[in-house]
Amino acid sequence: MKQYLIAPSILSADFARLGEDTARALAAGGDVVHFDVMDNHYVPNLTMGPMVLKALRDYGITAPVDVHLMVKPVDRIIPDFAEAGATYITFHPEASEHVDRSLQLIKEHGCKAGLVLNPATSLNWLDHVMDKLDVILLMSVNPGFGGQSFIPHTLDKLKEVRKRIDACGRDIRLEVDGGVKADNIGEIAAAGADMFVAGSAIFNQPDYKKVIEEMRSELAK
Ligand code: DX5
Ligand code: ZN
Repeated sequence: MKQYLIAPSILSADFARLGEDTARALAAGGDVVHFDVMDNHYVPNLTMGPMVLKALRDYGITAPVDVHLMVKPVDRIIPDFAEAGATYITFHPEASEHVDRSLQLIKEHGCKAGLVLNPATSLNWLDHVMDKLDVILLMSVNPGFGGQSFIPHTLDKLKEVRKRIDACGRDIRLEVDGGVKADNIGEIAAAGADMFVAGSAIFNQPDYKKVIEEMRSELAK
């Protein structure tokens, strides 16, 4: 059976108790920590830097961490995140001067590399870099905030990217971010995704385990 990964987005966690809340989401069944980095420039919001990731590692978070860079420029911050303990580093190609160079930089620092495509960003960005990608992240909301609604046309885009991944024959994760909940995760998986970011759906509920179990039972259908 296919291995699905659920990635709680700590953008919706309690920032005053970030270590504890992150550990709770993992103990509740989360596989990967999704770590949103916003710079108040590429996106209109400001969040966390490498020091916060290092603090989570020092606190004892050992799960893979998926660093989603919503920053411009991209390259300057990559080594710092790798050193702080990132597992995956993804970035938005239109925020990088040299996409191939940024991907290589991530890999040279020992992390898994990926591109993030916004709802209106063309899939053409994937054309010449499929051999360098470990993950493709499709945004199903416009980046910048948690708690937005899933944009339905992302499902067609997911299907298209799934075809491209299968055709290239490489082991590339297809991740989706924005508005993912227990009641739509099934159709998102059916469209080809195998890694699911969920922020408000998990952290805005009192019982994280219950939400994640509901998501897994939808994925098992
Ligand atoms: C939005 C971020 C997301 C966000 C998703 O720009 O990239 O990771 O946390 O939040 P939800 O799951 O609430 O839509
Ligand atoms: Zn994200």
